[in-house]
Amino acid sequence: MEAAQKPARSPNAPTDETVLEVRHFTDRMFSFRITRPLAFRFRSGEFVMIGLDQDSGKPLLRAYSIASPSWDEQLEFFSIKVPDGPLTSRLQSIQPGDTVLLGRKSVGTLVHDALTPGRRLYLFSTGTGVAPFASIIRDPETYERFDQVILTQTCRLAGELAYATELVASLPEDPLVGDFVKGRLAHYTTVTREPWPNRQRITTLIENGQLFRDLGVPPLDPAVDRVMICGSLEMLADTRALVEKAGFTEGSNASPAQFVVEKAFVG
Ligand code: A2P
Repeated sequence: MEAAQKPARSPNAPTDETVLEVRHFTDRMFSFRITRPLAFRFRSGEFVMIGLDQDSGKPLLRAYSIASPSWDEQLEFFSIKVPDGPLTSRLQSIQPGDTVLLGRKSVGTLVHDALTPGRRLYLFSTGTGVAPFASIIRDPETYERFDQVILTQTCRLAGELAYATELVASLPEDPLVGDFVKGRLAHYTTVTREPWPNRQRITTLIENGQLFRDLGVPPLDPAVDRVMICGSLEMLADTRALVEKAGFTEGSNASPAQFVVEKAFVG
């Protein structure tokens, strides 16, 4: 007897990729790596649709920032787990060998092309909003374009910082960016809902200037600084307001400028 065959998919349909590794950091956050088709190209910082097949036959897809850099042979993602989220409630149980659907096209504004040249790059994130920046800080182009890179992440709980903290700690040994990151990549962490040396939101720290004093850098200056922001809608609105108040203009792929924003996608 012939094995049942899947119906043929359209040329634009997502591809089937294999889960290679899954890491759970807390009961709210996990990361995973999947195979990358040779034809899949993206710019560091972009997002893509990924998801799972459903019994209905219609795939369940959500936008996910790609956390791995554009040169990596695999694709990495950093995800929240929403207990009743249609996708993440299932996705959090994936195991190596399982299939994940990958969209064919990546897009996004958290890319170098959307910023004009500058000297210092700020990457402001909360929670899983750090994912696109995990890609950016592993890309040699980041250090070709900027003298200094400052990654901030604010999380509810300390365990949620582990993904980016481990990544940053590993970078000095990274064959591609190891030589660039030393003394040029700063990682600034704050935790709002349990004890931690710094317990304030990034917006408060920008507003009261403590961020800049702690880092030993001047306040935000559109002449030399560039900014990427990724977090919840509320975090984006509040951080954007501060950056605009400092005189920054928003950029896009079509019209590069001084700052860019993107929502950290959930569900
Ligand atoms: P807080 O604990 O004070 O709400 P979330 O998981 O809700 O996206 O939050 C992730 C982190 O972002 C939390 O530390 C949270 O702080 C912080 N946060 C939430 N809303 C804002 C905002 N509007 N501006 C800055 N930080 C925010």
